[in-house]
Amino acid sequence: MAFIEQEEINRIRSSASIVDIISSYVPLTQRGKNYFGVCPFHEDHSPSMSVSDEKQIYKCFSCGATGNVFTFVENFLNISFAEAVSVVADKIGLSLSVKLTTKKETKFKEEHEAMDLALKFYQNNLNTEEGKQAIAYLKTRNLLEDTIKDFSIGLALDQNRLYKILSKKGYSDKLLEEIGLIQKGENGFYDLFQNRIMFPIHNLEGQVVGFTARCYLKEETPKYINTKETILFKKGNILFNYHRAKDAIRLLKEVVVVEGNMDAIRLYSVGIKNVVALMGTSITKEQVEIFRKLRSKIILMLDNDNAGEMATLAVGNLLEENQIPFQIVRLSGEKDPDSYIIKNGKEAMEDVIKNAISFIDFKLNYFKKNKNLNEATDLAEYLKEVIDGLKNTNDSILKEVTLQKLSNDYNISYAILKEQLGLTEKAVEQKKNKKQEQPKVVQNSYDKLCSKILFYMMNDKEFIRLYQTKLGVFPTKEHRLIANEIVYYLEKHKTINLADFITYAENMNLKEEIMTIIRNEKDLVLTEEGMLELLLIIRKKIKKEKINQLKSEMKEEYDINKKMALLEKITELKKENE
Ligand code: UTP
Ligand code: MN
Repeated sequence: MAFIEQEEINRIRSSASIVDIISSYVPLTQRGKNYFGVCPFHEDHSPSMSVSDEKQIYKCFSCGATGNVFTFVENFLNISFAEAVSVVADKIGLSLSVKLTTKKETKFKEEHEAMDLALKFYQNNLNTEEGKQAIAYLKTRNLLEDTIKDFSIGLALDQNRLYKILSKKGYSDKLLEEIGLIQKGENGFYDLFQNRIMFPIHNLEGQVVGFTARCYLKEETPKYINTKETILFKKGNILFNYHRAKDAIRLLKEVVVVEGNMDAIRLYSVGIKNVVALMGTSITKEQVEIFRKLRSKIILMLDNDNAGEMATLAVGNLLEENQIPFQIVRLSGEKDPDSYIIKNGKEAMEDVIKNAISFIDFKLNYFKKNKNLNEATDLAEYLKEVIDGLKNTNDSILKEVTLQKLSNDYNISYAILKEQLGLTEKAVEQKKNKKQEQPKVVQNSYDKLCSKILFYMMNDKEFIRLYQTKLGVFPTKEHRLIANEIVYYLEKHKTINLADFITYAENMNLKEEIMTIIRNEKDLVLTEEGMLELLLIIRKKIKKEKINQLKSEMKEEYDINKKMALLEKITELKKENE
């Protein structure tokens, strides 16, 4: 199956021109045989991305992004691989014979089915006699019927009913435990979620992967019980409501980020659809990367309490370090965006979003807390904190304006403030340089040569033949595994080229290793002599290692006959070398 799919994908890939497709998103100019443009995958203004018409791949010299036409579209539009294939097919006027599914999507099929069944079961419970109290609770929370439906809100009951029903349907305890629906106790397995309102959590592709479950009969601690980390649910890779919000976000180039799922539900249900929730006050590196890919401005709107304020500073710092554009909203009066809308309405919310402030304006305010600015030490500390808060900004006008403002407001010499900023910036610079000076992990020079050989092999089947006849096996496991994949690919498809092999590699465990090889070797000139030279060096290395090993064996061998046999082997090997 996968084989037919790959053939069709390759056909689309080879009918599309990567230069045409990429230039429909990013302007490219030709220089020599390659094309250049500003890389959309990191913050940049100079053309550091090159596109090769010959190899049908792209590569950014600055951030290292690389791949073929599909990976470009996938990452540029932030869509799945299968979607990227149909976008490219559309653009060149080819229609797909079947709906493409990738291995990625069929992974954990049974687990996803069980999850979907659980969701349906919970949803259905709301409509039963036992669901009445839950419905009443949802009404007190101002959740309309449509919203309950849109967000697939449900209800978990007691007596292990979910466990019983899913077991009856044939799902094993192991599977149900693995996706976090049941847990093992003293009397066997039981439903993890009981007597709670169920809010499903979806992954970026929109599959249900977990739940957050709220108490409703009385206030309990914890207020929410969440699916723990499972094979499907990786909280750090998820933003609540992402799959519903992503189109609106792309359209508006803006995303409102809130803490609570209830906040996201509220904004979305009143029509502010470009909203996602962090599901708490912390943000992970992976979530930052999701935001980067959206290439939209973040409006950070956390709760109106101490935790929310501290989190605004922490999240803001991380976003700034990662050069993600963002602004901040601090609500007043109500404790969170949910209650703010209930109290003040949608328009008021739209207004506060429009009036979002910069990070530095937030800090000018934040650092005043618990200080008496009439006191010299407090004021000095305040000024230092604010100035320190400017060190990661590239915006020189903003820096200037802030320093002027501080100078005016507190009657401090501008020159002194400027000097202080100079010092903190210098410290940042030194830290950066130190980081760069650290020795990179020196890749063994033989490893590099093996990578080069593998790169050759990905480009042309003749190079694979040379590898098979002249070397046959790599000294290290990682290279052997990649070589096996390449050889396997050739056997299946009878031909190979870099761009199609990238598609194949996308679905593999070795993807990162393969992409690293391509990233490093893209401009290598491929000739038969070059390949033969590399193969010879590796052969010699293998031989040399073999000889060394035999030598040490010989040293430790006391039986004279065996010693002689080893010596003979060594001489033989040495002869072969010449
Ligand atoms: P909040 O306490 O702000 O929740 O926590 P909320 O969404 O406003 O809920 P309501 O309005 O009280 O019903 C923010 C987020 O932190 C996580 C949840 O993801 C929640 O949406 N959280 C909070 C938990 O995981 N467990 C808890 O006990 C509390
Ligand atoms: Mn809240």
